[in-house]
Amino acid sequence: MSRAETRLTLASDHRVGLADSRVGYESQAYVTDSKGVIVDLGQRQPLHRLSENPPLGLPPLASPLQADEINLGRQLFFDRRLSVNETLSCAMCHIPEQGFTQNELATPVGHLGKGVRRNVPSLYNVAYKSALFLDGRETSLETQIWSPLLAVNEMANASREAVLEKIAANVDYRTQFNSIYPGGLTEESVGRALAAYQRALLSADSPFDRWYFGDQVKAEGLRQSGAVYPRLAEEGFAIFQEKGCASCHRLNEADALFTDSQFHNTGTGLRRYGRALRPPKVQLAPGVYVVPTVDAETETFTDEGRYEVTGDPADRWRYRTPSLRNVALTAPYMHDGSLATLESVMQFYANGGGEDPMQDLRISRLRLSQQEQSALVAFLRTLTSDHVNALVSDARSVAIGERSAGGQ
Ligand code: HEC
Ligand code: HEC
Repeated sequence: MSRAETRLTLASDHRVGLADSRVGYESQAYVTDSKGVIVDLGQRQPLHRLSENPPLGLPPLASPLQADEINLGRQLFFDRRLSVNETLSCAMCHIPEQGFTQNELATPVGHLGKGVRRNVPSLYNVAYKSALFLDGRETSLETQIWSPLLAVNEMANASREAVLEKIAANVDYRTQFNSIYPGGLTEESVGRALAAYQRALLSADSPFDRWYFGDQVKAEGLRQSGAVYPRLAEEGFAIFQEKGCASCHRLNEADALFTDSQFHNTGTGLRRYGRALRPPKVQLAPGVYVVPTVDAETETFTDEGRYEVTGDPADRWRYRTPSLRNVALTAPYMHDGSLATLESVMQFYANGGGEDPMQDLRISRLRLSQQEQSALVAFLRTLTSDHVNALVSDARSVAIGERSAGGQ
């Protein structure tokens, strides 16, 4: 199948970006421009076909995905009934319009306003991640789901059995599980369905990919986009390689995930440490602030990164190298969401990162002029995939907390 055939189509009226501008949000007089609960706005896409032939710039997937598993997983991902008090779905922290992350909070708020200590990672291209979570404590998408489903500051379910009972109470879910999986509804099959949907969120074929990897399709790509690759972005990519950014945010010959899947100390951990013992103030609504209770799992807001998994002091404040695909959509940045814009990330690097004597030397040595920073940002902005709009539209093809015919 050619790449052209697997290209996803786009529902033309679909908007990608912030759900709400939030200008003036600190005042109680704020008026929202968001759509409230979004119901059935989108257009379903043949995501399983993308998995047979991933977009330009991505490696092949280990095995293609099944449409019925993706569809079931999508429904679960958007179902608010999966949290203990039926308010919070996976998609409310991993928001499709916001790069399957959350732009509005540095760190999210879960069940009953309890704070979660880390910035939400994007789920685009999560299929390729061998180490999950920012400290790599989990390796399988199939089992990862129990962490948010059970964490008392996320979806707060009492047990795996309680989640299964909840799903089993819905006839439509029961029927789907029985027809797809020989064992029907089990811990494993819930994991497989959610994993299938998340693996289907493949997103590349960006202006950069068409310029850099697109030897054969280059001419076609350029014609379709109606533009040549921007000069400033080209400069930015040269700087990205010269300055050693690509030694951690890696590219291969025929594809790129812009990560080495390793853990590094860039100096962000120590910067946060001073304010680590107090949870940050969180704005819940216009003019309404709360200081959330501390992370109920760890009882503090400290975050020592990879060290928490390995116990090796050298791993303190090391976090997984994030992929830079679609990075323009996934603000705020770093493990704690402490940098609001790409410009501020470049400013952070321009001064050689943080002030941690233990940080990676490649970072400490960095110096970037204003011009170099602008060029790098221009390059990073060309990593936004054309598929994003279609994936958002597809995500919204299921109503939030959908009650299907025959349901409860
Ligand atoms: C309260 C907000 C919240 C909810 C609800 C939530 N997540 Fe997350 N998710 C996060 C945060 C924060 C992280 C990063 C945590 C860490 O690194 O320790 C994360 C990490 C992940 C990761 C790892 C991604 C990576 O790059 O390593 C996956 C996969 C994921 N979530 C899927 C889900 C699924 C599936 C659900 C629903 C069952 C869900 N999440 C519900 C906030 C949330
Ligand atoms: C030593 C490895 C390393 C090098 C070199 C490096 N980075 Fe990073 N980069 C990281 C890690 C690790 C993080 C995440 C830090 C955190 O979560 O606190 C990161 C975060 C980022 C982010 C924020 C992404 C997000 O989703 O939060 C951007 C953008 C970025 N780097 C771009 C660059 C650029 C441009 C350069 C070169 C000037 C560069 N990086 C050099 C490892 C590196």
